[in-house]
Amino acid sequence: MQEDVAKILIGPADLHQRIVELARQIQADYEGRDLVLICVLKGAIMFLVDLMKALQRPLEVDFMAVASYGASTQSSGVVRLTKDLDMSIEGRHVLIVEDIIDSGRTLQYITEILKLRKPASLRICALLDKRERREVDVPVDYVGFVIPNEFVIGYGLDYGEIYRNLPFVGVLKTQ
Ligand code: IMP
Ligand code: MG
Repeated sequence: MQEDVAKILIGPADLHQRIVELARQIQADYEGRDLVLICVLKGAIMFLVDLMKALQRPLEVDFMAVASYGASTQSSGVVRLTKDLDMSIEGRHVLIVEDIIDSGRTLQYITEILKLRKPASLRICALLDKRERREVDVPVDYVGFVIPNEFVIGYGLDYGEIYRNLPFVGVLKTQ
């Protein structure tokens, strides 16, 4: 696995430090309000776990999954829901927890369908932002790291479903 990593982009200590900072900011912003974290499977699992451990306040968690058709290192823009939430989010303060925003199409799709369910508020927290690849404008409220246009793996992110368990974010060797 490690031999397929061209370089480590963000190591475990930097991930931890930044996530603690994000948690502090989220805690301050949601003070006195309820909070529902929505984890977008599967890529955001590691981020969700570390973020929720850093959030020292009551919260609820739910999961949803989407799939995008097409090639594996590029999202096609055609997104479909493969697992829906278990809970109702009507009147709730919802924070979407996502691994990475690339073209923005996945998060645009997710926010569109969740808005229809009338949450009290809806925000996005993405660990990674490949800003230069953005095709649609999606307001991301919390960003961990802005990264260059390279395909990354690890810390939840996969290539062909492999590498999610790497404890760092690395650049995949071009094959
Ligand atoms: P978007 O719809 O183009 O914004 O792509 C978002 C989704 O594509 C993410 O949720 C990831 O699942 C996947 N993705 C985008 N870039 C990468 C990457 O560099 N590594 C792994 N997955 C990625
Ligand atoms: Mg994802």
